Amino acid sequence: MDILHSYLSPGSVLVAIATLAFLTWLYLAHINQFAKPGAYQSFDIAGFPIFLIRGKDDKIRAFHNVCRHRAYTITRKETGASTVLGCRYHGWSYDTLGRLVKAPQFDDVPGFDKSENSLFEIHAHTTEQGLVFVNLDSGEPALFEDSVRASLEDFKRDSGLGTKSEWVTGQTLTGSFNWKLGATDRHFKNALVQLEQRVSETLRPSFATQLMRTLTLKNKKSTLSLFPGTLIYSFEKADLELALTLFPASDTTTQIRYDLFDSGSTQETDEGALASIIGEALRLLVKNMESDSEYVTQNVVESSATTHKILKRLREHQKMEKMRGGQILPAMRQPKGSLFFQQAEQLCKELDCSGPGANGAGSGGLDW
Ligand code: FES
Repeated sequence: MDILHSYLSPGSVLVAIATLAFLTWLYLAHINQFAKPGAYQSFDIAGFPIFLIRGKDDKIRAFHNVCRHRAYTITRKETGASTVLGCRYHGWSYDTLGRLVKAPQFDDVPGFDKSENSLFEIHAHTTEQGLVFVNLDSGEPALFEDSVRASLEDFKRDSGLGTKSEWVTGQTLTGSFNWKLGATDRHFKNALVQLEQRVSETLRPSFATQLMRTLTLKNKKSTLSLFPGTLIYSFEKADLELALTLFPASDTTTQIRYDLFDSGSTQETDEGALASIIGEALRLLVKNMESDSEYVTQNVVESSATTHKILKRLREHQKMEKMRGGQILPAMRQPKGSLFFQQAEQLCKELDCSGPGANGAGSGGLDW
């Protein structure tokens, strides 16, 4: 089966292929979504659980969201804050650098080395505008593209989205439709037209604000598309930017993450009203995408610009695999199976160090 038909065919292969398409720098968040050291946000990208966390050095890092002990999820909430993340099952704890700092019952195990059991770090890059990207390549990732860097700078000039922009609201929604439908952006356009109107009615900028916007030429709305599934929209009549990203969750479901940012110092923002308008509009967008998904034909998906870009990347990826002489997999790694680790595992079982949540019971206070 050629790459196009693999991509278009239903079945689990879609998720694997979409994931390979993600072997590129993928936008996830803005630094100001992480207000203080320890603030984190969890993501599931086509079945790959990862989380971003702000370190004590203020750097945003990404980690595979899987405990090195027995592979349970570390951060079970979508967002939160803690400078030490404890796995709920047997109490292994990690700091904001992903280092294992506590491993109950293992301290006296001969040969057990905490430093060999840090969380697996994922390549993360924060741009000058404060946008955080990750790359799931488990090897050396592709360079962050200059063209993307330039587009972000242009967008910052038009919209003001930068390191000082404040995060206003955001949420992850789940839609019952195939991620490929996101390749058609007609729904986004309709939703944004309606949002623009409702937001301008709500904010009602003062005359002084409008004058300031005119003088600084900031009345121009702008959109930025980031491959493969992100659109950032700058409102025409408000210093607000909306980032929308679609992630494939399965063959039949897609996650839609949205975040609203405020880049203005002159507008008075009613955050509650804005959150309600944006949430309502995006829930409607998801509903429309769900009902339209039944009518999307293969031709529509096949001819979309995003599909073409994805296929191009997949072909490049296949070429790279041939050159490297093997499959290049995303940053999904298995815990080490060293002899010492296996002995420690055995000891753990013998000591019955299963944690309070091991059988799905209460969290015992370690449920992040
Ligand atoms: S699985 Fe995390 S501590 Fe055991």
